[in-house]
Amino acid sequence: MRVLIPEEKITERVNELARSISADYAGGSMLALVVLKGAFVFAADLLRRVEGVKIYCDFIKASSYGYSKESSGVVNIELVPKLSMEGERVLIVDDIVDTGYTISKIKEWVLSRGAASCRVCVLLDKPSRRRVPFQADYVGFTIPDEFVVGYGMDCAEEYRTLPYVAVVD
Ligand code: IMP
Ligand code: MG
Repeated sequence: MRVLIPEEKITERVNELARSISADYAGGSMLALVVLKGAFVFAADLLRRVEGVKIYCDFIKASSYGYSKESSGVVNIELVPKLSMEGERVLIVDDIVDTGYTISKIKEWVLSRGAASCRVCVLLDKPSRRRVPFQADYVGFTIPDEFVVGYGMDCAEEYRTLPYVAVVD
């Protein structure tokens, strides 16, 4: 196991992202749509630092991976949020964009439910792995093509509670 992004670096960057989001959504409301399971740690840290915005939270879960490390391209929405997206300024919070299949599908779903706007905030971006064009609005770190774990992310359900991002060698 090799640490790729230490805890202090994550904290610093999450604070910066929270400041940008606070400025962009100032005075209004936002529906934070957290993508389970991988984004739960990032979302908890990020959203607690956003100030001056009325935040509603809900959760969505999509599957494409199973236990393999490669996205299949077939994405199912497994857990549908309870809150209505209609007229809302939705911010999707996810852990990582890899091929782009999952997040593209979730964004499409949100817009089809009548959201007023839909932006995406991800902790990590692996642009070299993209299979469909996708650019997140807020990106914590751009990383090379390596499989990472920790800070919410897993490998076969292990390592989610590590406080840093690591590469399993
Ligand atoms: P995509 O559809 O290929 O973009 O994959 C998106 C999802 O796959 C992410 O939200 C993660 O849950 C998972 N994923 C992609 N790359 C990694 C990784 O390096 N480590 C852990 N999970 C990953
Ligand atoms: Mg995910």
